[in-house]
Amino acid sequence: MERSVDDIQYILTAALQAPSGDNNQPWQWVVRDLATLELYYEPGPQTTDSVFTSASDYVSLGAACESACIAARARGYETRLEPFPREKGERCVAVLRLTKHSQESIDPLLRCLLTRATNRNPFKRTSLTTAQRAALRSSLDQTPTVTLRLCDDRALMRKIAKAVSVYDELIFGNYAVHQGFFSTINWTKQQDRLRRKGFYYPTLAAPPHVELAFRLLRYWSLQRLLNVFGMQKGIAARNRRVYMSSGAFGALLMLGSTPHDYFEAGRAVERFWLTAQLNGLNLQPMTGILYLGASLQAPDKARLFTPAERARILEANRSLADAFATDSATLPFVFRIGTGPGPRFRTSRRPPDEVVIWAQGMLDVR
Ligand SMILES: Cc1cc2nc3c(=O)[nH]c(=O)nc-3n(C[C@H](O)[C@H](O)[C@H](O)COP(=O)(O)O)c2cc1C
Repeated sequence: MERSVDDIQYILTAALQAPSGDNNQPWQWVVRDLATLELYYEPGPQTTDSVFTSASDYVSLGAACESACIAARARGYETRLEPFPREKGERCVAVLRLTKHSQESIDPLLRCLLTRATNRNPFKRTSLTTAQRAALRSSLDQTPTVTLRLCDDRALMRKIAKAVSVYDELIFGNYAVHQGFFSTINWTKQQDRLRRKGFYYPTLAAPPHVELAFRLLRYWSLQRLLNVFGMQKGIAARNRRVYMSSGAFGALLMLGSTPHDYFEAGRAVERFWLTAQLNGLNLQPMTGILYLGASLQAPDKARLFTPAERARILEANRSLADAFATDSATLPFVFRIGTGPGPRFRTSRRPPDEVVIWAQGMLDVR
């Protein structure tokens, strides 16, 4: 069967729509030939200068890879994945080998690849149906190392909301987290189109009347002053109310915490998220506190926090581990989920010519 450049472009267009922490899109694809795609980790300043280590980036890379696989199968390819091939160097996360068949295999998740989006609006509190729960569970069948916990007990949800909102409080209460967060915001459509990374402000779904105040809060000296009156706590409390307006909270659990483990979890995240969307559910990850917890292992990141802040981050992570009964497993992903209107705005993506490298002569194959 014929392979074509058009197929590869189709596959990569899907892969570039994958979700990523802070929309930092930490990837680069190399098209070695029409049967071989290589995925490389490209840590941007958002990782090197940020309060986070690379754990979240590996989840994003896994999500991108899974999207590519779904799109490839829809074009009639069998996919074989070699994760972390040593001979390709440290930054190579996966080699995806494509074999063309006569049969196209349309995964129902395909139609959600280009429409999936993070929804930060309040959802309905309606519980998930049995069918929705079953679909979400079976979306993880292909990744036996990753398991799902769903929680709709309101008391336990309050405990989880309290733990994840420690991150929100630190966005407005800790200098490094504050600077990192505000550096990701694109305030205007024009800025967003130019940068194609980070958040277009309306995707944050903040109430319309707070935009001016929000813009001013990027000045740390003003923020610090307002914190004397407890502003950071007020914002965290408001976010907890939004989180609580959900049908359920959930977490994915995995054994281990290597880059490879996070990458495999990312593949599961993408299938899970697309399945949620296919079943009429909205999803917002709530992961900041998890990745801050992971960052405390790195001395250069840990010193960005006061001892009291470090203790709070650790306590919040313990509380999540307890709420989701993780035992000795790691939590790579925590989220809220529920029905309700979809998101009104979308983030941008880096253009293919910035992110995809074609081996010499490849584009002449057409
Ligand atoms: C590993 C990972 C962690 C994320 N954590 C959060 C989070 O804590 N809060 C949030 O609102 N969105 C979170 N997101 C969603 C991203 O911000 C989002 O995917 C990105 O901005 C692109 O937007 P889209 O999902 O609408 O395409 C996360 C996404 C990934 C892949």
